[in-house]
Amino acid sequence: MTKSLQMGVIGLGNIGRQHVHNLSHMQRVTLAAVCDIDTGRAQEFAAQTGARAYSSVDAMLQQAKLDAVIVAVPHFDHVTAAIAAFEQGVHVLCEKPLAVHVGDGQKIIAAYETARRHHPNLRFAMMFNERTFPAHKKIKEIVAGGTLGRLVRATWINTRWFRTQAYYDSGSWRATWAGEGGGILTNQCPHNLDMYQWLFGLPTRVQGHAHLGKYHAIEVEDEVTGYFEHEGGMVGHFIVSTAESPGTNRLEIVGELGRLLFEDGALTLQANEVSMITYSQESKDVWGGVKSSSRAIPIEQGDASSHGVVTEQFVAAILDGSPLIAEGVEGLGAVTLANAIMLSSFTGQMVELPLDPKRFEVELQARIDAGKKV
Ligand SMILES: NC(=O)c1ccc[n+]([C@@H]2O[C@H](COP(=O)([O-])OP(=O)(O)OC[C@H]3O[C@@H](n4cnc5c(N)ncnc54)[C@H](O)[C@@H]3O)[C@@H](O)[C@H]2O)c1
Repeated sequence: MTKSLQMGVIGLGNIGRQHVHNLSHMQRVTLAAVCDIDTGRAQEFAAQTGARAYSSVDAMLQQAKLDAVIVAVPHFDHVTAAIAAFEQGVHVLCEKPLAVHVGDGQKIIAAYETARRHHPNLRFAMMFNERTFPAHKKIKEIVAGGTLGRLVRATWINTRWFRTQAYYDSGSWRATWAGEGGGILTNQCPHNLDMYQWLFGLPTRVQGHAHLGKYHAIEVEDEVTGYFEHEGGMVGHFIVSTAESPGTNRLEIVGELGRLLFEDGALTLQANEVSMITYSQESKDVWGGVKSSSRAIPIEQGDASSHGVVTEQFVAAILDGSPLIAEGVEGLGAVTLANAIMLSSFTGQMVELPLDPKRFEVELQARIDAGKKV
């Protein structure tokens, strides 16, 4: 008989309840435990699903005999919940972001590596569900396939994160240094930052300009421009805001062999007939230009629940040894970019990667100490 994975969900808020719903309808999974520090909430979900209710992660891990958990608590608590699970040899699917800062992210990864010495088949996954979006998969396929040749520039304007003051006021922890450790880069953009590093890898140098509470009465950043320099010469721009309406979501990727444009859900490839770099160097024509042709790239229909797809794949990875959508360790990329942009903005200097985690933590701690208590 096929094994049924005993699973638990830690954190039953906006996203945790979606995971409870998904797991309750999934093959080869038994939702055995739900956990929330809000005891009433845990009991409510337990009554609905037949799972056992816990108000402490440690109690759940010690008593519920789980194979795997989904960590869906606020960002700062990802580190304690994930490490506690690894210490019990329990597989982890962690919500984004991996952690608020690189130091905590490294602690989670170290705990996973230690646990694997005793449990070599232990799996650690990130909930980067946007990697499963058909358009995103197609962009990855085109970039990784080398269609654009040597990459020159990637510019991502994503200002489709409009948030009202009422949204920020809806939770006292929201958009505070103590409660979230950051703003748009920590809360809204981990998926975009992950996509950036998934497509292009990490840059070597980062410059950031982050405006704190520019359009909202909040402590943290709500409008950001990041500038990235990569080995090999490619540059990147990452422009995001929670204050623009109508927002833009435009990703432009330029290589020597053409330009891939993703905007308004449509993907267009403008292919050069020859390399623009070679042409520029070798053409004798003073006002010459490279001939190109444009075509729309078809995109398949998406899955109803991208979170469900990542979770299914997590279950399959544990039971069948198949690959994950995103390995846990890959979560460090988005955290690195977020921290580097903010460190650069705080200090007014370009930041070299790999990032010194302590430098960012010192800056963050100073803002937590001076900021709102939550
Ligand atoms: N992948 C996605 O698309 C997506 C979407 C939304 C949120 N998230 C991420 O999920 C996490 C949770 O976000 P949310 O919007 O659901 O938050 P939320 O505030 O709605 O819910 C968090 C829940 O965790 C509980 N909780 C807090 N500390 C706890 C602890 N130590 N142990 C057990 N329970 C605890 C709270 O009582 C609350 O019920 C965040 O890190 C967020 O970035 C991801």
